[in-house]
Amino acid sequence: MPAKEVSIAIIGAGGVGKCFLSQLSSLAVRRPSPKINLCYIATSRKALYNDDYSPIAVDGAIDALASSTKSPLDLPKAIEYFAAAPTKVVLVDNTSSQDVAEAYPLALSRGVSIVTPNKKAFSGSYKLWQDIFSAAESSGAKVYHESSVGAGLPVISTLKDLVDTGDKVTKIEGVFSGTMSFLFNSFAPLEGQGGQWSSEVKKAKELGYTEPDPRDDLNGLDVARKLTILARLAGLPVESPTSFPVQSLIPKQLESCSSGDEFLQKLPEFDSEMEQTKASAEKSGKVVRFVGSIDVASKQVKVGLEMFDRSHPIAALKGSDNIISFYTERYGSNPLIVQGAGAGGDVTAMGVTADLIKVLSQIS
Ligand SMILES: NC(=O)c1ccc[n+]([C@@H]2O[C@H](COP(=O)([O-])OP(=O)(O)OC[C@H]3O[C@@H](n4cnc5c(N)ncnc54)[C@H](OP(=O)(O)O)[C@@H]3O)[C@@H](O)[C@H]2O)c1
Repeated sequence: MPAKEVSIAIIGAGGVGKCFLSQLSSLAVRRPSPKINLCYIATSRKALYNDDYSPIAVDGAIDALASSTKSPLDLPKAIEYFAAAPTKVVLVDNTSSQDVAEAYPLALSRGVSIVTPNKKAFSGSYKLWQDIFSAAESSGAKVYHESSVGAGLPVISTLKDLVDTGDKVTKIEGVFSGTMSFLFNSFAPLEGQGGQWSSEVKKAKELGYTEPDPRDDLNGLDVARKLTILARLAGLPVESPTSFPVQSLIPKQLESCSSGDEFLQKLPEFDSEMEQTKASAEKSGKVVRFVGSIDVASKQVKVGLEMFDRSHPIAALKGSDNIISFYTERYGSNPLIVQGAGAGGDVTAMGVTADLIKVLSQIS
């Protein structure tokens, strides 16, 4: 007899979490079955839940959470609470927390399914990756993380379908960071000159495209994490996001700046290096872009600057879009390409909601 009710527990109610709640509210209207009960919602400081699991109203949950006097349960206790619920529970992790990520094996082993845009669990140690999928395998709980690469773009599901249907993926290449996309599309555009590197970084920060300290984007680690996830799904047992070459765009001398502001102030002193890179690309009729690639056959994963012909789809990218090309035996020399917005609350939450729908159809 299929379960007609499923409970949802949400950890994280920031940009993505708020958009997810709004999509959850309209999902309940479009798909009345199974009935979705919100049983828990928490940030790092507050929580909302009822000991008897009586549902929390989705509409108004953010305001109710803000005025709640309850503290979040610590993770083992929260998992205990989810596992003891009268219905199956799906945990939606809308944080970027390593601690929450490390609790996935426990949650899954207790039958709690997980959907998340959080990269940390899937791009941390290979052992954590193995623990997550073996816990899911033995309990039957589900785990989906589409939005951990390319936000709502169908990147992970596409790669899984290619692999599961027996295609041979030979190479994956693309622009995996909205910030890097924006920076290079304005620093070295196909049309026109483009600005100075340091002015483009400053502009990107002012427009909210970078992390508060732009070095957190320029160090390449965010891209390396996404590549780690895709490489593992393609069958390469990549140990960690620091186990392959990652080019950082932070000049050595500015690594020790004490703040993002000090970094931005000193960055113009290093503009000539990036100018030279841009000029040498132009000389050969190319443009420079910050890309990640996985060569499956030679097991090589790398992240950094590369030159592309002006007619290449990576060169023609616009704004802060992502582009991911899958080269496979079936697709031959014309790769399967996924392209579009790779960041933003609504599109990221869409990937989370779509994952939730998949889980609901499997567990209810
Ligand atoms: N925004 C995007 O465009 C985008 C795109 C792709 C993927 N993602 C991923 O989506 C996730 C959420 O991103 P976001 O932009 O929504 O982040 P955010 O605005 O910073 O929100 C994070 C939320 O998680 C909560 N949180 C953090 N650590 C926690 C912990 N240990 N326990 C409980 N709650 C905790 C925060 O609560 P406090 O406020 O109390 O700290 C906050 O409510 C991240 O993993 C991010 O990488 C985001």
